Amino acid sequence: MLSAHTIATVKSTIPLLESAGVAITDHFYQRMFRLNPELKNIFNMANQANGRQQFALFSAITAYAKNIDNLGVLSEVVERVAQKHTSFFIQPEHYDIVGHHLIETLRELAPDAFTPEVEQAWTEAYGALANIFINREGDLYKQTEQAPGGWLGQRKFTVLSKTPESSLVTSFVLSPVDGKPVIGYKPGQYLGIKVQPKHCEYAEMRQYSLSDKPNSSTYRISVKREQGEVNGLVSNHLHDSVEEGDVLDILPPAGDFFLQHQHLPTVLISAGVGLTPMMSMLEATVDSHPQTPIHFLHACENPEQHSFTQRVAELEKITPELNAYTWYANHAPEQDNVFSGLMSLAPMAQQLPLGSGNFYICGPTGFMSFIKNQLLDLGVKDAQIHYEVFGPHSDL
Ligand SMILES: Cc1cc2nc3c(=O)[nH]c(=O)nc-3n(C[C@H](O)[C@H](O)[C@H](O)COP(=O)(O)OP(=O)(O)OC[C@H]3O[C@@H](n4cnc5c(N)ncnc54)[C@H](O)[C@@H]3O)c2cc1C
Ligand code: HEM
Repeated sequence: MLSAHTIATVKSTIPLLESAGVAITDHFYQRMFRLNPELKNIFNMANQANGRQQFALFSAITAYAKNIDNLGVLSEVVERVAQKHTSFFIQPEHYDIVGHHLIETLRELAPDAFTPEVEQAWTEAYGALANIFINREGDLYKQTEQAPGGWLGQRKFTVLSKTPESSLVTSFVLSPVDGKPVIGYKPGQYLGIKVQPKHCEYAEMRQYSLSDKPNSSTYRISVKREQGEVNGLVSNHLHDSVEEGDVLDILPPAGDFFLQHQHLPTVLISAGVGLTPMMSMLEATVDSHPQTPIHFLHACENPEQHSFTQRVAELEKITPELNAYTWYANHAPEQDNVFSGLMSLAPMAQQLPLGSGNFYICGPTGFMSFIKNQLLDLGVKDAQIHYEVFGPHSDL
């Protein structure tokens, strides 16, 4: 339990944190990777290059300082981060390294303000936060290890099949080398994957949403090839260098984005490869609650980039309660419920369960904000809206 004095001292540093901004977490990560380069085997360096992880950590630290006397309001954030941490198999000893670099960062960036009193308060406050994560992550590791089909850390899986779903997305079905069952998951959750692509000095860890309904023997993920000025390391490695029969290191399912109430009307809204968790939710709901009204709304560039088209059409045929709608950014519509341009919900508002449904969104953050604003304008409540960011979390 932190003393009133410690709490007051931490709070007194909030203006300092806010004026320094992400310079703090920038400095922190540079320092940590210089002195503990082995952590490059865990962190995604692309999320460092684009600044998203620095921003995520900075937001978490300032939110902690502001709410240090009312931690209940942070419970959702803590759960999301703890789930994410477990997919990297973060261990208690890692917290000592992070804590050390965080304290030294404050000392180096603000030597005058970093009095012994501030150092003592932040050391205690960091320790308290670290314990919250360590305890929750410990519980999650125990639960996952002890559940039927569960395991701790990495487990070897063979690629059973590799199937293109569209011009950019390929599915991989993974089966454990030991031939034993696999733990179930909540539709919407993701796996952790650890690979070492050719010419990479460090191992690379990424998350991929499970894209099918759970079964007790295999997992399916569906991966978009990320191309740009610098091609994505892991997605291109999976597309180009991983074949059927190859073996991958997989960390157990995790994540706080999942189907909440399968009996309530469900609206699945995605753009691009954001449809992967939606496929899992769709398959699971059609299988176990076929009476649930489901709307499957998807936006993508054109038919060539449209994944799972046939499967969704098949499910629509056999499930009267399922309605699918597509928006192509660059293609003229050729059939019912296919539109061109940006996804627009107002014209179809009457068909959506605005008052009673759960709305799940996944895609680029710009797309998700655009959709969330439309939903709020139509009267949907914030609590009905759930979303997943395919990278360090940011608020919409
Ligand atoms: C919860 C969650 C679920 C996810 N589910 C899926 C899923 O189901 N399917 C899926 O395909 N993805 C999913 N992702 C994303 C996935 O984890 C990877 O982030 C994605 O595959 C890109 O990884 P990469 O190694 O190929 O690219 P990275 O090497 O990590 O690069 C990421 C992007 O940055 C660009 N880049 C890299 N370095 C630089 C640089 N120095 N300068 C400029 N640009 C740069 C790359 O071109 C690329 O577009 C999910 C992510 C999360 C967090
Ligand atoms: C109290 C200490 C910590 C805090 C407040 C914290 C906070 C965060 C936050 C906010 C995120 C983003 C989560 C998201 O995407 O929603 C994150 C991700 C992550 N954290 Fe932590 N973390 C802490 C400790 C650690 C430790 C000890 C490690 C291991 C060395 C670690 C490794 C990671 C990794 C690898 C990611 C994912 C980064 C990425 O996707 O690029 N964290 N953490």
